[in-house]
Amino acid sequence: MSGYTPGEQPEAPGLIKLNTNENPYPPSPRVQEAVASLGEERLRLYPSPGAGPLRRKAADVYGRSPANILIGNGSDDLLAICMRVAVDEGATVAYPVPTYSLYPTLTDIARARAVEIPSSDGDETLADRLVAAEAALTFVCSPNPPKGSLVAADVIAGVAEGSAGLVVADEAYGDFADLNTLDLLDEHPNLVVVRSLSKSFSLAGLRLGLAFASEQLIHEMYKVKDSYNVSSVAIAAGVAALDDLGWMQANVARIRSTRDKCVSRLRRSGYEIPDSHANFFWLEHPGRPGEELYGHLRSEGILVRYFDTPELRGGIRVTVGTDSEMSALQEALAPLAPR
Ligand SMILES: Cc1ncc(COP(=O)(O)O)c(C=O)c1O
Repeated sequence: MSGYTPGEQPEAPGLIKLNTNENPYPPSPRVQEAVASLGEERLRLYPSPGAGPLRRKAADVYGRSPANILIGNGSDDLLAICMRVAVDEGATVAYPVPTYSLYPTLTDIARARAVEIPSSDGDETLADRLVAAEAALTFVCSPNPPKGSLVAADVIAGVAEGSAGLVVADEAYGDFADLNTLDLLDEHPNLVVVRSLSKSFSLAGLRLGLAFASEQLIHEMYKVKDSYNVSSVAIAAGVAALDDLGWMQANVARIRSTRDKCVSRLRRSGYEIPDSHANFFWLEHPGRPGEELYGHLRSEGILVRYFDTPELRGGIRVTVGTDSEMSALQEALAPLAPR
């Protein structure tokens, strides 16, 4: 197997980093305070195995019971747990493509078979085609990388309704869109909704994710997680982050506004950019391949994401940074502008 290829994390400072969908703003100051005031006792002892304090806090904030929530070491941990709980060797895993490039790797690790369903924005047959795969696990990511398109809640409900297997709604970027899939959980005991604190809450370095599902499913997922999968530092920081939702929401609003301004300027100069509901967007130039745009931006000190696959060679994925970082991007792209 080839393994997952993460976006570059350069050791040297100085690049404008728009390649791995991190938040350009710091997390709530309450997070720093919570981490700083963690007593040595909390470091000496093992953490709560189920991240109890954070589970209870998340239950409070999202209006569910702690028994419906599992905390992960990043949402990647939760996606791996979903695989472990539902996918045996030789089983089928289905997902629309293009999408998050970790799903094929998780499928390879499980020695399972991937059924990739080509899909584009507004695809009305998507639910039926996913159900027809009869997969042990189906991933549906919304907003979906690399373009930021949404999969409607009724499509996710349709997949969950028609599938005997597990359906995982990956909502790592959910806070940047107005989603209501948590409401589907009551009717669909085979649905897991996975959220991340890496993007909207600015905590990618800390590694925290939340899974929401029926009590029975969370119970099964709990059995196959690592014994202490979330550290005491992460638990304390996560509680503080969820205690300050307003901070996260203000940053999300800033990022959405920066995105919309930047996208409309770049479109006016001829770049092709589909609507995005996330903290990144997809950019194509009608006459230049993605690799050239990537190389040009890199030479200007700006790092974006280029995927060397037949479907994605035509463009680049750009993370939305601060206003000034996006001005630098626009300036760097101006000499190549199609008009
Ligand atoms: C769609 C999607 N899901 C999950 C993740 C993993 O996020 P986390 O940092 O919570 O593991 C990412 C990270 O880029 C992502 O793009």
